[in-house]
Amino acid sequence: MKEKIELLLQEIENLKCNTEKDIEETRVRLLGKKGEVTKLFEEFRTIAPEMKREFGQKLNILKNKAAAKIEELKENAASSGTEQSSSTDTSMPGDPLPLGSRHPVSIARQEIVNIFRKFGYDVAEGPEIEDDHHVFESLNFPPNHPARDMQDTFFISNGHLNPLLLRTHTSCVQVRAMESMPLPIRIICPGRVFRNEAISARAHCIFHQVEGLYIDENVTFADLKQAILLFAREMFGPDTQIRMRPSYFPFTEPSAEVDVSCNICHGKGCNICKGTGWLEILGCGMVDPNVLEASGIDSKKYSGFAFGMGVERIAMLKWQVNDLRHYFENDMRFLSEFSHCVEV
Ligand code: DAH
Repeated sequence: MKEKIELLLQEIENLKCNTEKDIEETRVRLLGKKGEVTKLFEEFRTIAPEMKREFGQKLNILKNKAAAKIEELKENAASSGTEQSSSTDTSMPGDPLPLGSRHPVSIARQEIVNIFRKFGYDVAEGPEIEDDHHVFESLNFPPNHPARDMQDTFFISNGHLNPLLLRTHTSCVQVRAMESMPLPIRIICPGRVFRNEAISARAHCIFHQVEGLYIDENVTFADLKQAILLFAREMFGPDTQIRMRPSYFPFTEPSAEVDVSCNICHGKGCNICKGTGWLEILGCGMVDPNVLEASGIDSKKYSGFAFGMGVERIAMLKWQVNDLRHYFENDMRFLSEFSHCVEV
């Protein structure tokens, strides 16, 4: 009996079972009704009384060790089981990362640029921090001219002869082009502009414009009208009509504002066009001879037209967005509505 106990103790010491099934089988083999430890207890009843004390203690130790070992094996199996389930299964497909999409203002700007590119216009860009000379002076806004009040300007430095400011329109890029590019010039200038305006559904202090400029010999108002008509039809659909209303800009003479026929009610009148059937899209005109001369271009030989449009406005009309602020708030519900838009 002594040997049996020793052998079992050794066996228990070295027990290694991994699965719950193995452990249960071992438990039954040792501690079950017909288990080896149980059998030893039965044998114990038959031994001589003077030996009972010694073997009784040994048997109890054996039984406790067997039970403790089984418990330990169970715990090990349980913890390695959870480790297994939480460890990475490298064969699983990865979590999909949501793909972003282009911002509606970028989509609209790109569409405008692409249309004019097809007409043979090059893209020109200029700095957002500008000087008075390029934003006002050379565009025929003399100092203290009331037309400067049309554009509330953010000044960066005051008190200089030529203060720095955030450009209020992209028309200054046409000045930079006239100063530096060889003639003829046919460019569009997309860019961000800044005005000190209260933010509302219809106005923002930051927005985007696309400026257009064409200078050559014998450029006429008819060319301007045709360019705008073709653009409007590409942008808003082949049935689009345009109308030009006389207007005033210091840098163009004559000047006009252009409306397109409402693409929602097709001219019948709705709440988007406020019942008029027309939507304003841009300002334009023939480049004022003073502006040509200020950039060193001979106004007797050359003439040209210019136009400027707000990208957010075009995008609002195209997609019937009724509040300009949507473009700047980055609300995913709004932005994801444009994820299907593919660039032309
Ligand atoms: N720069 C004008 C604005 O920001 C828009 C504009 C009007 C540009 C007429 C032009 C133009 O080139 O000819 O309001």
